[in-house]
Amino acid sequence: MGKPRPLLMGSNLKMYKTAGQTKEYLAALQELTADIPRTELQLFIIPSFTSLPAAVEQVDQDLIRIGAQNVFWEDQGAWTGEISPLMLKDLGVGLVELGHSERREHFGDTDLTVQRKVQAVLRHGMHALICVGETAQEKELGVGTERLRAQVKIALHGVPEGALDQIWIAYEPVWAIGEKGVPAEAPYANEMHGVIRQVLKELYPNRGADVPILYGGSVNLDNAESFAAQPEVDGLFVGRSAWEAARFNEMIRRTLKVWKEARR
Ligand code: PGA
Repeated sequence: MGKPRPLLMGSNLKMYKTAGQTKEYLAALQELTADIPRTELQLFIIPSFTSLPAAVEQVDQDLIRIGAQNVFWEDQGAWTGEISPLMLKDLGVGLVELGHSERREHFGDTDLTVQRKVQAVLRHGMHALICVGETAQEKELGVGTERLRAQVKIALHGVPEGALDQIWIAYEPVWAIGEKGVPAEAPYANEMHGVIRQVLKELYPNRGADVPILYGGSVNLDNAESFAAQPEVDGLFVGRSAWEAARFNEMIRRTLKVWKEARR
């Protein structure tokens, strides 16, 4: 491993929780995790757009970073219904999730639109959390790794090495996400993280290996530690199992323990 870095743990709240509920959740999570040194843990929560002002007001972002679930690539214009990077920045949001599989499946996000959004996020000095992952069909047809390689290469097209500090990647196999999802086996996730790491090294021989890669897709209290033990896993991106503060706190503590032991 390269230089020591904190374990990344975060959650996308999807279309759950009103602003009030988000505030309550964040207050509880911040209090429960306050004693964990942030040199060891970087925690982030990605609520709905309408909860962002309340979220930013509620938390100390040194303890819990707040992110947005999407962004448009232009700063302003006749784009009814879209949210610009300037608007997010104006709220104090410095992290943007891009290309989640639900966006790709239901809302027309493609590798190319994700690429444009990455550029917009970087242009404004924000951090991009780029989600990639193969579908069940791609896996079955034996093109899962090709798909991952293409997603990463297109998303990072035009990103200079100097901007890599603003990039995190989440590996989220589409077949593993959500209620019908089956979590990936930890060794499989590790192997796919290795594929992503390899592309990053090809694109950026000097610093590509330092880009954090998180695993997401049906992470729960029972399997979180198995992912944390894998050498290529730099963090976990959790949905359902993180939406109750006490349970997420428990998961964070268990995961951090294993993660530290595995890296001694
Ligand atoms: P899940 O969601 O943990 O509920 O499967 C993961 C995700 O969509 O990022």
